[in-house]
Amino acid sequence: MGRQPPVGPPRWKGNDVHFAIGSSRMTRRAVRRVQLRGARVLLTGASSGIGRALAHRLAAGGAELVLAARRAELLESLSDELAAARHSRPHSIPTDLGIPGAAAQLGADALQHFGHEIDMVINNAGASLIGAQSLIGDDSTARTVYEVNFWTPLALSAALIPAMIARGSGTIVNVTSTIQSVPLPLLGGYYGSSKAALAQATRALRLELAESPIRVIEVVPGATDTALRDIDELPWKNSPPNTLPPVSPESTATAIVRGLSMGRRRIVYPSYSVVPLEIPAVGRLVASVGGRRVDTQEAIGSSGAR
Ligand SMILES: NC(=O)c1ccc[n+]([C@@H]2O[C@H](COP(=O)([O-])OP(=O)(O)OC[C@H]3O[C@@H](n4cnc5c(N)ncnc54)[C@H](OP(=O)(O)O)[C@@H]3O)[C@@H](O)[C@H]2O)c1
Repeated sequence: MGRQPPVGPPRWKGNDVHFAIGSSRMTRRAVRRVQLRGARVLLTGASSGIGRALAHRLAAGGAELVLAARRAELLESLSDELAAARHSRPHSIPTDLGIPGAAAQLGADALQHFGHEIDMVINNAGASLIGAQSLIGDDSTARTVYEVNFWTPLALSAALIPAMIARGSGTIVNVTSTIQSVPLPLLGGYYGSSKAALAQATRALRLELAESPIRVIEVVPGATDTALRDIDELPWKNSPPNTLPPVSPESTATAIVRGLSMGRRRIVYPSYSVVPLEIPAVGRLVASVGGRRVDTQEAIGSSGAR
């Protein structure tokens, strides 16, 4: 009797896999570098901050971009800037990712724009909410934070992974935060917990797709000088605690592109932000000590979302 063909799930052939050789076969690890030139990339949260700076870096590296955010005029002005710099003009898709279903529609629209061939999605859009859980509970503002920060990356991944698998390659990039490990009062309940949930889902997705040609990357920014900067908005009893100054969104974007080109699976910037991620007790201590300086009583009287 002839040999039967193997039955089971398809075996993937990585098309641009480089191996970093460790001290033995057991420590051999695949390093899959992201090539930007000609890459078709969907970038959410492109209208401001890290996303806007990242759009500049990606375009300069030769990527073709679809940009998403709510503020259409900012997406258009960004497209104008990139075209004026002689980069490929991006396609803008204004959308409110706080609305259930919007992410799946965005994925479908991006696929259509790229002719069903997409190389990377960068789930960068983020929403914050500072307020007391004891008042807000699960109201619509709280649910919107999870819609933007958690459900949108999962929905976009699911919308795009089949097309990536059909092509034999693709990269999912989820932007979380060091706040995932620092459960400060009024910030950890919604924003922080949504980022912790996304970090966990990102690691699980990487394992789920380990035998596939899809790369799954977590970007973990620390304090970056943008409109979303976490701790400035907290109601401090006196002045905010002394922390290291935030880094610029441009330097964070540069670190992301460098990490992608080096094939990193997790990109943490600035590098000292890795401490609470790897030593969770440090994050809890920072939250506990810092949390005593937060005026939670005042917040219970004035919770609000933005
Ligand atoms: N800044 C920090 O210190 C820091 C630290 C750790 C992690 N991060 C993460 O970095 C990412 C970028 O944030 P950023 O610091 O650059 O802040 P940002 O300047 O406020 O950018 C947030 C982006 O998300 C978009 N966005 C927010 N809500 C949206 C919605 N409902 N629908 C569609 N787009 C929406 C915004 O666009 P529109 O307003 O035009 O919709 C904007 O482009 C976020 O995921 C954030 O959590 C930031």
